[in-house]
Amino acid sequence: MVLKVLAFLALVSVMVNSQQPAFNDDVLGLIFFKAGLKDPNAKLQSWSSDDNDPCNWTGVKCDPVTYRVTELHLDDLSLSGHVGRGLLRLQFLQALSLSKNNLTGTINSELSHIGSLRVIDLSGNSLSGSIPDKFFAQFGSLKSVSFAGNKLTGHLPGSLSSCSTLVEANFSFNRISGQLPSGIWFLRSLKSLDVFGNLMEGEIHEGIGNLYDLRLINFGNNRFSGKIPGDIGSCLQLKYVDFSDNYLYGTLPDSMRRLVSCRSISLQGNSLSGQVSDWIGELTSLESLDLSANNFSGGIPSSLGNLQLLRELNLSMNLLIGYFPSWISGNELMGSLQVLDLSSNDLYGEIGSKIGVLSSLVFFNMSRNHLFGSIPYSIGELKTTQVIDLSYNLLNGSIPSELGGAVSLKELRLQMNFLSGKIPIQIVNCSSLTVLNLSWNNLSGSIPPATSNLSSLEYVDLSSNDLTGSLPKELANLSLLMFFNVSHNNLHGELPVGGFFNTISASSVSGNPSLCGSVVNRSCPAVHNKPIVLNPNSSDSIGGSFPNHHRKKIVLSISSLIAIGAAAFIVIGVVAITVLNIHVRSSMSSAPVSLALSGGEDFSCSPNNDSNYGKLVMFSGDADFAAGAHALLNKDCELGRGGFGVVYRTILRDGRSVAIKKLTVSSLIKSQDEFEKDVKKLGKVRYHNLVALEGYYWTPSLQLLIYEFVSSGSLYKHLHDPGRSCLSWRQRFHVILGTAKGLAYLHRMNIIHYNLKSTNVLIDCSGEPKVGDFGLARLLPMLDRCVLSSKIQSALGYMAPEFACKTVKITEKSDVYGYGVLVLEVITGKKPVEYMEDDVVVLCDMVRGALEDGRVEECIDGRLRGNFPAEEAIPVIKLGLICASQVPSNRPDMEEVVNILELIQCPSEGQDELE
Ligand SMILES: *[C@@H]1O[C@H](CO)[C@@H](O)[C@H](O)[C@H]1NC(C)=O
Ligand SMILES: *[C@@H]1O[C@H](CO)[C@@H](O)[C@H](O)[C@H]1NC(C)=O
Ligand SMILES: *[C@@H]1O[C@H](CO)[C@@H](O)[C@H](O)[C@H]1NC(C)=O
Ligand SMILES: *[C@@H]1O[C@H](CO)[C@@H](O)[C@H](O)[C@H]1NC(C)=O
Ligand SMILES: *[C@@H]1O[C@H](CO)[C@@H](O)[C@H](O)[C@H]1NC(C)=O
Ligand SMILES: *[C@@H]1O[C@H](CO)[C@@H](O)[C@H](O)[C@H]1NC(C)=O
Ligand SMILES: *[C@@H]1O[C@H](CO)[C@@H](O)[C@H](O)[C@H]1NC(C)=O
Repeated sequence: MVLKVLAFLALVSVMVNSQQPAFNDDVLGLIFFKAGLKDPNAKLQSWSSDDNDPCNWTGVKCDPVTYRVTELHLDDLSLSGHVGRGLLRLQFLQALSLSKNNLTGTINSELSHIGSLRVIDLSGNSLSGSIPDKFFAQFGSLKSVSFAGNKLTGHLPGSLSSCSTLVEANFSFNRISGQLPSGIWFLRSLKSLDVFGNLMEGEIHEGIGNLYDLRLINFGNNRFSGKIPGDIGSCLQLKYVDFSDNYLYGTLPDSMRRLVSCRSISLQGNSLSGQVSDWIGELTSLESLDLSANNFSGGIPSSLGNLQLLRELNLSMNLLIGYFPSWISGNELMGSLQVLDLSSNDLYGEIGSKIGVLSSLVFFNMSRNHLFGSIPYSIGELKTTQVIDLSYNLLNGSIPSELGGAVSLKELRLQMNFLSGKIPIQIVNCSSLTVLNLSWNNLSGSIPPATSNLSSLEYVDLSSNDLTGSLPKELANLSLLMFFNVSHNNLHGELPVGGFFNTISASSVSGNPSLCGSVVNRSCPAVHNKPIVLNPNSSDSIGGSFPNHHRKKIVLSISSLIAIGAAAFIVIGVVAITVLNIHVRSSMSSAPVSLALSGGEDFSCSPNNDSNYGKLVMFSGDADFAAGAHALLNKDCELGRGGFGVVYRTILRDGRSVAIKKLTVSSLIKSQDEFEKDVKKLGKVRYHNLVALEGYYWTPSLQLLIYEFVSSGSLYKHLHDPGRSCLSWRQRFHVILGTAKGLAYLHRMNIIHYNLKSTNVLIDCSGEPKVGDFGLARLLPMLDRCVLSSKIQSALGYMAPEFACKTVKITEKSDVYGYGVLVLEVITGKKPVEYMEDDVVVLCDMVRGALEDGRVEECIDGRLRGNFPAEEAIPVIKLGLICASQVPSNRPDMEEVVNILELIQCPSEGQDELE
């Protein structure tokens, strides 16, 4: 009402002065417009109806020739009220900018009657309602429109698609819903389209490729679904792509490889999947790449190392596997990298020792992977790094003292690893340190007193370590401290007094039996103010005054018990190993005995002078076949058949059982010399998780290999024979670990197994797995893949993909693949490939799928009836999947597998076994 009266008065005063010649519609319009506004800071004071030259008014610009108002810039003036109709009088207005005020009401559809408008900026107000349907229908030359940061609802009007002059449109930060107008990709002049932060839905349809000039597209934070449009790569000018936080799925369209001008790609927070392809390294203008929080799988392409301008790389929260990328550390090209976040993936391996070359790194997060090994010294070369988060990995070793070189460090998070040793005193050089979390490690020693000089500290968590010594009193001077947890250590003495420590909670210091102070409800001997009166007749009073003494004694005795127990165990272990060593040495040193034996297929025992004489070599002991050679290849004694031959059992005269393998690949065998050389090499392999080769027999037409006999049959039988009792979780873990050790040993001896499968893993009477049948492919004249894969075709499902690919070398990593499959087989109780009625189930794929769906526990053998520690089972499954990676280089080597398994093994469970 008041406004209307004002407007009326203004109009009257304009009328009164109307004899002035310069008076025109513009003054009338502006005064009318002002009348609809509230101007608390009197910013529009100069707008006076007494003055009929509006060209000098605040925020008004005129054409220098015609003196007509062409631009209105009233940004950030705290104006409120409505965008009034007065503006419609400004027939030559080209730019209307009213951003960052507090304007309310709806968008006036009549604005489109100002045909001259080129720029409209109403962003940062409180406009509501929807954008009028026909709003964009009439503009003749509109180039830029922004309604960003209002409270607009409804749909984007279809008329938008007909505004062919449009270059920039910004509707971000509203509550606009509905789908994109269908003709939007006809806006050929469009360079920038921003609808970030709305409620828009539906698919982002193809056709975007029409927009040759598009530089920026921001559809982030909406509800778009479907795939990234496949023709997006035709927008060759694109510099900035943001589709983050939508419901997009599918893979990265290949056409994206053409976006070579692109500086920033943000696709985080969708459900995109598949591999991050190698072509990503062709986008050499990239400065920022965020693919985090998706379902990307496979390895991290090393081509990322080519992106010299890359400043931010966020691949966190995906299903990426493989080693810590070697191109990151030791790649001088990555010198511009500031943010590196690879957290929450399935990466493993050691942090590259040359990580220090990342000379611009500010933020470094590798948390929640499976990194092992120690923290590299070169971490101290990260002079600009503010955040280092390596928490939730398998790191061991000590925190390097070089860390003190990371002088910009504000956050150091190393919790949940296996770090040992002391907290390096050099940490005091990190004088900006605000957050220090070293909890849940095996750190020992005392808390460096100089820690209290780190005056920026706000959050300190050292809980659950083996820290000893007392808490430095000066810690109480840390004035910004808000969290301080040292619970579950072996700290003693008095709690600091004052500052934060006056209000510290008991749980933050609990679990330190020798700490004293009022918080822990234990008085400290030294601070007793009252004189202590000792009653010589009462032992109680002494105990009462020094309650912690008692406790200390108990603690001591428990810890000494543990120490004694451990020592005893170590002694037993040493003795056992020594005995084993002596045994092995003596059996190896006994010279091979050569015996003559008939080589005819009939195996008559009587030696004759036939040229067909064979040669029998035993690497140790006696070679008398008790049952005579007749029994040798008797069908009744057959133990099994494999790709390389048939296996029989027989008993030596000394009562020892042996397994004899008759090679069925005779025609392919090498010359005798080479055969003997190779077999002798295999004979040298002695390891308790490997089936020992005891000897061999040679004739040109027949070759036998004589193996140690392993009593309890194959792993295959234990897993899949319906008659067998089910293996417990612990037995399975034992088999998985033992098999890994066996393979690791083989690889150390430079022997590739070539044929790992559950029928080739034997179990002895004490449940120890022994890997057999190794290295036989060496006996073939050449490693012909065809022969090889036909020989081991029974190993279907275990065979690494490179067997099918002639260009990839077969290496130890091919064994790792088979091992990965075997792990999954042991855990699920399912065969690597199972044939259903009209379906083939490939175990790896099935488990991988279940893992991605978050229901991996359902894969675990039902016969275990939930009787397994999930914290072991799930990492083991992941390890199995990593081993069964398609790309050989993504597979760990067996040595690492053994290390990882030993770390995975629950400590308590491990102990059970020792008892
Ligand atoms: C514009 O306003 C300024 C003071 O705000 C004054 O000095 C100047 O003379 C005015 N110009 C015209 C053309 O009115
Ligand atoms: C904008 O106006 C609304 C109501 O009209 C008021 O609540 C709010 O505080 C104002 N905001 C500013 C920044 O003036
Ligand atoms: C759109 O407007 C918002 C809010 O004013 C701004 O932050 C954003 O940068 C604008 N988008 C473009 C592409 O200029
Ligand atoms: C990954 O995919 C699974 C289903 O395949 C889904 O449940 C999960 O939410 C996805 N994760 C992300 C981050 O999209
Ligand atoms: C990386 O992405 C994740 C998930 O989108 C996010 O939580 C995290 O803050 C990002 N890291 C950095 C350094 O921005
Ligand atoms: C590092 O990443 C993990 C997992 O993605 C996250 O929980 C943690 O907050 C991140 N660390 C920092 C310092 O942002
Ligand atoms: C770290 O663990 C690996 C096995 O994972 C072991 O070989 C190495 O000796 C350990 N290092 C330290 C310092 O404990």
